[in-house]
Amino acid sequence: MKKEIRRSKVKELLNSEVTGKDVLVKGWVRTKRESRNVVFIALNDGSTINNIQIVAETSEFPENLLRDISTGGCIAVTGKLVESQGKGQKVEISASAIEIYGKSDPESYPLQKKGHSMEFLREIAHLRFRTNTFGAVFRIRHTLAYAIHKYFNDKGFYYLHTPIITGSDCEGAGEMFHVTTLDLKNIPLDEKGEVDFSNDFFGTETNLTVSGQLEGELGALALGEIYTFGPTFRAENSNTPRHLAEFWMIEPEMAFYDIKDNMDLAEDFVKYLIRYILENCSDDLAFLNSNIYKGLIDRLNFVLENEFRRITYTEAIEALLSAERKWEFPVEWGRDLQAEHERYLVEQYYKCPVIITDYPKEIKAFYMKQNDDGKTVKAMDVLFPGIGEIIGGSQREEDYEKLLARIRELKLPEKDLWWYLETRKFGTAPHSGFGLGFERLMLFITGMSNIRDVIPFPRTPKNAEF
Ligand code: 4AD
Ligand code: MG
Repeated sequence: MKKEIRRSKVKELLNSEVTGKDVLVKGWVRTKRESRNVVFIALNDGSTINNIQIVAETSEFPENLLRDISTGGCIAVTGKLVESQGKGQKVEISASAIEIYGKSDPESYPLQKKGHSMEFLREIAHLRFRTNTFGAVFRIRHTLAYAIHKYFNDKGFYYLHTPIITGSDCEGAGEMFHVTTLDLKNIPLDEKGEVDFSNDFFGTETNLTVSGQLEGELGALALGEIYTFGPTFRAENSNTPRHLAEFWMIEPEMAFYDIKDNMDLAEDFVKYLIRYILENCSDDLAFLNSNIYKGLIDRLNFVLENEFRRITYTEAIEALLSAERKWEFPVEWGRDLQAEHERYLVEQYYKCPVIITDYPKEIKAFYMKQNDDGKTVKAMDVLFPGIGEIIGGSQREEDYEKLLARIRELKLPEKDLWWYLETRKFGTAPHSGFGLGFERLMLFITGMSNIRDVIPFPRTPKNAEF
């Protein structure tokens, strides 16, 4: 009986020494080329951006078998790993047996050899994984997620799972998606004509979370240093290349950190992640560097080599006012910065990543620690070239009275926040945290220009296919 051969991944074979031993690979056909007596197949199995070349002598295989192999098909190949005769690869497989798992009609297979537009590839998100670009993007996405866990684990942070379904919009970060099992054709109303949630699944109004922060703070005020890493949801109608309705956020929250410690952590964290990807995803980055964004690797190294510039909101406004150019959105102390302002500061004025602190309290969330000036809060936004805001965070208000006063001033639902307030009553502590937009960092690291192309299945207004 023939000995079973263990399947090898393409990546492993391309890195291995030629032994002349029989190997088995399985994967999808990228291209097939025929010359006089030989068929060349470029096979990819997702383990690396590189394909392995399969060489099949026409005389050794039934004619219809080789004919049925075409771009997009899936095959298993047994053969000897040999030194390649041709240019472009060190090793190749001289095939002795080929099994076709799935044929693919070359006429109707949507991925032709030519470059397709990103828009077109979004319409075939079920197949776009099979392109070099999306293979690279999603291998990097995996590695980045792994690096995030590694970074925090090595530092003694605990991964805390905060809920996806929540009872209130404590954050005030934007429109929320309702979660309900009520019959939408027959919504129960109370005497005042408001929706009666008492018969809803949770007996109260619930939504998908916009942030795990408030629950994260509860964990930090006992476990010390925690982080969340999960999906968050915002029902705002933002149709931009940087907004998703469902995106992933990393939110560390640390007891005993002030705003400076918070900035130091954010800078160290992002630099660690970029370095990790440079060191561990070099093939994929090299591909993106030559095909998607020329200068990508230089841009990543530039961030590693330079300190983030730290300025206050007031300094940012002064820099913007001194700019000799027209703004679409007015620049005035007290107004929020728009993308055009942020990008100007990072790309033209300071020419490096920037951390802006001490924003006016009116344009930031209720929980941010108030400065002594009575006007600003200890907020921090990290801005990146080509992206704009990548991180938003702050030192938190730990003073019970001040926090309560702010909640009342803003007419927030005090009764829904009782548990949050209690942490300031019982052993409150200075603490800080921030939220990093996972896909925004992915945009920066991959050089992709639309956020829809760095998440496998984007959720945006009027779009939830796949
Ligand atoms: O600035 P944001 O709204 O901050 C928070 O949610 C805080 N609770 C974070 C914290 O302090 N724990 O969002 C944080 C980051 C932004 O800087 C941005 O990178 C990303 O989340 N983000 C989005 N990414 C994609 N699509 C959207 N619609 C996003 N909204 C925010
Ligand atoms: Mg923000």
